[in-house]
Amino acid sequence: MARRGPRAALVSLAVGVLAAGVAITFAPSASAATTLGASAAERGRYFGTAVAVNKLSDTAYATILNREFNSVTAENEMKIDALEPSQNQFNYANADRLVSHARSRNMQVRGHTLAWHSQQPGWMQNMSGTALRSAMLNHVTQVATHFRGQVVAWDVVNEAFADGNGGARRDSNLQRTGNDWIEAAFRAADAADPNAKLCYNDYNTDNWTWDKTQAVYRMVQDFKTRGVPIDCVGLQSHFNSGSPYPSNYRTTLSSFAALGVDVQITELDIEGSGTTQANTYRNVVNDCLAVARCTGITVWGIRDTDSWRASGTPLLFDGSGNKKPAYDAVLSALNNGTTPTPPTTTPPTGNPTTPPTTPPTTPPTTPPGGGAGCTASVSLNSWTGGFVATVRVTAGSSGTNGWSVGVNLPSGATVTNSWNAQGSGTSGAVTFTNVAYNGRIAAGQSTEFGFQGSGSGTGMTPSCTAS
Ligand code: G3I
Repeated sequence: MARRGPRAALVSLAVGVLAAGVAITFAPSASAATTLGASAAERGRYFGTAVAVNKLSDTAYATILNREFNSVTAENEMKIDALEPSQNQFNYANADRLVSHARSRNMQVRGHTLAWHSQQPGWMQNMSGTALRSAMLNHVTQVATHFRGQVVAWDVVNEAFADGNGGARRDSNLQRTGNDWIEAAFRAADAADPNAKLCYNDYNTDNWTWDKTQAVYRMVQDFKTRGVPIDCVGLQSHFNSGSPYPSNYRTTLSSFAALGVDVQITELDIEGSGTTQANTYRNVVNDCLAVARCTGITVWGIRDTDSWRASGTPLLFDGSGNKKPAYDAVLSALNNGTTPTPPTTTPPTGNPTTPPTTPPTTPPTTPPGGGAGCTASVSLNSWTGGFVATVRVTAGSSGTNGWSVGVNLPSGATVTNSWNAQGSGTSGAVTFTNVAYNGRIAAGQSTEFGFQGSGSGTGMTPSCTAS
């Protein structure tokens, strides 16, 4: 298997010149770039955003997109349900529209995503075994072939590992077709488009000490050892109080890079505001700039109001399209390559054959000593026929060792997906319990989990029980 198209070779050459590790020194530019894409390009990188195709007709949205970004990812339009709504009948209209918008403006396109447990069309959700494996491989082959030469990098497989300690694979219909489903997807993508960069993409893989990060690391290491065609690892990097930016983020980036893959920050958003949010954005950019194989950053939306977590105001532009302090921090970090504040841990310089640190056996948060009492509140991002609910769990005066949140879903509402919690039930009275790393909450502190549903989520009043 040789994944060596002309473009891949060029990129490798550039990376080789930069040296496969860390620490790059930049010559100061004569005049500082004034947009994110132009500035990133001066660093040999891209700066992208997720795009919702139906917003391209929104002038304010399109103006910022066209001015600032040199890479796009379809927020939803290249997912399995969007591209193959009926088996073997492909609908490329919206995705093609985005690709054409991007390519006519010299933006590159990241493809998201070929194989995923979520956003499967109904016909695929109901499949299993050999039939599902074949259908998945057919989807990968058809879609990668359709976009051959137009998509620079594909998230071939998305979110295949479970949350929590242990580093297990996520249970799904795809996983139940056999543990080799991920490499089978990569081989099919490689056959269909030998020149596209093929990425594994996931969330909660930013903190180097978390078991999920280590498990993905070991899979990539194994793929490289056995010649499974993988070129890159995508870190989604959705940061908030429950899943904060870790001080060892640069270690995570450089450790994956040392395996011989590119690293891309694929869905960046950071909940917060003002200087605190700006500083975290600055740190993320500086961490990427410090790792030669961190080839680009994509933010998951343009304005705060475009975000899947709009209530957390996690993006670089406010709802009116004004640049936020976070924008200024990102642009100046790209232009200057400044040292992050606070300093991050020193990245390893070697090419480790085993993970440089031992995954923790205890959760990363400080145990508060246990006790009863917690509250939960929910914020909703709704549309006709569906919603994303973000639930904030706040510990009472004694802190928690674990928690359980009960929600009565309105009639007709169904949970389709959840994160940072273990869900039980999909309609009526449903319960979400902490996963291993977020059960312990110090007194007065909070964590967040979320779930997506169909129907209306309006009027949910969560109740919280602590242990
Ligand atoms: O807008 C349509 C509406 O017209 C239609 O009636 C309705 C019917 O279901 O769907 C609406 O679209 C919804 C869309 O969000 C609106 O923004 C989709 O159903 C809904 O599924 C979709 O949620 C997306 C979610 O992935 C799906 O899993 C979010 O936009 C998108 O930001 C989010 O992105 C994911 C990445 O792919 C993977 N990593 C996590 C990230 C955040 O959840």
